[in-house]
Formats: sequence, C-alpha cells, structure tokens
Amino acid sequence: MLILAYESSCDESSVALLEDGGIAALQTVTQSVHQPFGGVVPELAGRSHLELLDRLTVKSLHQAERSLDGVDLVCATVGPGLVGSLLVGSNYARGLCLALEKPFRAIHHVEAHLWSAELEHGPLPLPFLVLLVSGGHTQTVLVRDLRDYDILGTTLDDALGEAYDKVGKLLGLDFPAGAEVDRLARDGDSRKFVLTRPALDRSTDFSFSGLKTAVLYTLRDHPSVTRENQAADILAAFQESALSSVMKKVRNVAEATRPRAMVAAGGVAAKSRLRSLLTSLATSLDIPAIFPRPSYCMDNAAMIGYLAWKLEQAGLPLEDASVRPRWPLDALTTEIATS
Ligand code: KG4
Ligand code: ZN
Repeated sequence: MLILAYESSCDESSVALLEDGGIAALQTVTQSVHQPFGGVVPELAGRSHLELLDRLTVKSLHQAERSLDGVDLVCATVGPGLVGSLLVGSNYARGLCLALEKPFRAIHHVEAHLWSAELEHGPLPLPFLVLLVSGGHTQTVLVRDLRDYDILGTTLDDALGEAYDKVGKLLGLDFPAGAEVDRLARDGDSRKFVLTRPALDRSTDFSFSGLKTAVLYTLRDHPSVTRENQAADILAAFQESALSSVMKKVRNVAEATRPRAMVAAGGVAAKSRLRSLLTSLATSLDIPAIFPRPSYCMDNAAMIGYLAWKLEQAGLPLEDASVRPRWPLDALTTEIATS
C-alpha cells in the first residue's frame, strides 16, 4: 500500500511516501521566515506551507520514483496545531484525494510522534513509555497499544523546547534556539550559576516558566553576562536544572508503570544532552532507550504516514477530516474492539 502523507501543524512543511509502512521518500523544510520574529508567526506559517507543499510533493514522488497514480491513500495531520497551517496541509491532501478518487485519513499529530520510533526500529515492546518534548508539547505517555494511551504527565506552562527558545532569546540567540543552547551549554560550567529547580515535588507534571524567570533575573543581576561572555555557563545551569527535573519525573512514572522500553520523541530529543541522560536512566531501569533519528524526531510527515498505515492495518475507520487545533490525546483512546 502506497501512502502519501502531509505534516503542516506548525513550522515544518513535510511530505512523505510510505510503501507498506516503510519510508520511500521524506522531504521536510523547517520554515525560516519566523527567525526574525523570535517565534512562529501563524499567518506566515500558513503562507509558507502553501508555497512549499507542491514542490515537496513533486520532490517526494521523484525521490521514491513513483507517480501519483500509484497512491492508495492520502493522509495529513488535522490537529493539534495552528489552524491556518492545518487547513493548508489537510485541504491540499484532501484536494488530491478528490482528484485521485482515493480515501483521506485524518491523523493526530501527537499520536504520530508516539509511534515514530517504530519507523526504523520496528515493533516496540509494549507497554513503552514516551517522553515527547518539542516546541509545543511536553508529555510522558504510556503506550499500552494502538489507541490505548495513558497520559502520565504534561506541562503546566511552557513546553520544554519553548523554554529553550525563550532562554536562548534572552541571550540574543536566533529562533529556534534549542539546538544552539544545547551546543553552547556543552562548554559551560553549570555550577557557576544557581537557578531554581523546577517543581521537584511528587507531581508528574512539568513546569518551566519559573526556571525561565530565574534566568531572566540572573541576567538582570549579572549584566556582564552576554552572548559572548559566560553565556555557556548560564545555559549549562539552565539545561541541567530543566533536564534534572524532567529526568526525575520520567523516573517516577517509569518506576510506577514499569514500561518495557523508553522512547524519546520531538525536536528537543533530536540530538541533545537529553538523549544521554535518558539513556543512563533507561540503563539504570534495565530497559532499552529508543530514539528515532533526528529527521523522524522533529515534526515530519513520515510519522504521519506510518501511523496511517498502522491504523489501516488495524482496520480502524477513517475519522472526521475537519481540522482540530485543540485535540487532546486522551480523546483518541478508544477500544479497538468496539470501533
Ligand atoms: O518537534 P519540533 O521539531 O517542532 C515543534 O515543536 O514545532 O521541535 C522544535 C523544538 C524547538 O523548540 C527547538 O528549539 C527544540 O525543539 N530543539 C532542541 C534541540 N534541537 C531542537 N532543544 C534542545 N536541544 C536540541 N538539540
Ligand atoms: Zn511535533
């Protein structure tokens, strides 16, 4: 079965082709128009998707050496995300369905992240614990099976990637700043600055806004700290503080739920310090830590197409195609047997 997949929920425009669940092509562009604004500008994101999707579709077909005639199913993210961006991607995909007389499958973006590690690692041992950390999401989810998810923890304020981006912005770094913060922090001494540790209580939820404010106040009290001077130290202090809190909460939920594997997903897990910390944590729990490669970790259409294929295999009915900018993951958890 050849599946053509679209992802356009935020600032990545991505198109993929999957043949029986395996990737035949993946073309992703991270939109650069947002850089001067220090954050994603929804109107610009929608316009960029409109400009990019045709080109990415042609490139994907070329990469896979296939034509539109061979496509059996088209799918796209319909939520959660930016409404204009979701409309552009999903309506583009639905237009193709009308022209090709093929079915359209609506996909939940976060659900696709949950299964993204299977793209190259094959079926994972159930249940597995996913730490989803991106610019828009910070969640721990126990995956028992397809459509059987337990949301164990979620952020009460900023997403982890958002906190990286905002702290980077305070130091004058370009948006999105996460990768640069992570890179600079490697050379820093995290003990040079003492920052609050975000909510180290027993709660399984995350909170990063206090830590971000602590960085702001520290910079105010130490005006000599600039992008050029001691930035690495304060970024290292921020990173250690944020990630030690994340690891503590992941450990708590893992000890309580006893997953058979640990999976990281989302842009913050792409190639960062978080990977090594999560690997050590999984080793101490005697379970494998599984990381999708960076191009499957960040927002991408391959994971959208892969989930569509899994839903097809499970015989789940096609869902309502309308876009849902807010679409909680727990709204999806249904009994496969009753659907
Ligand atoms: O999943 P993703 O590609 O997309 C959205 O959330 O839209 O994640 C992007 C986020 C941004 O906040 C970016 O700053 C962060 O992931 N990020 C990182 C790293 N690489 C990207 N954060 C920390 N360390 C990194 N190496
Ligand atoms: Zn995402």
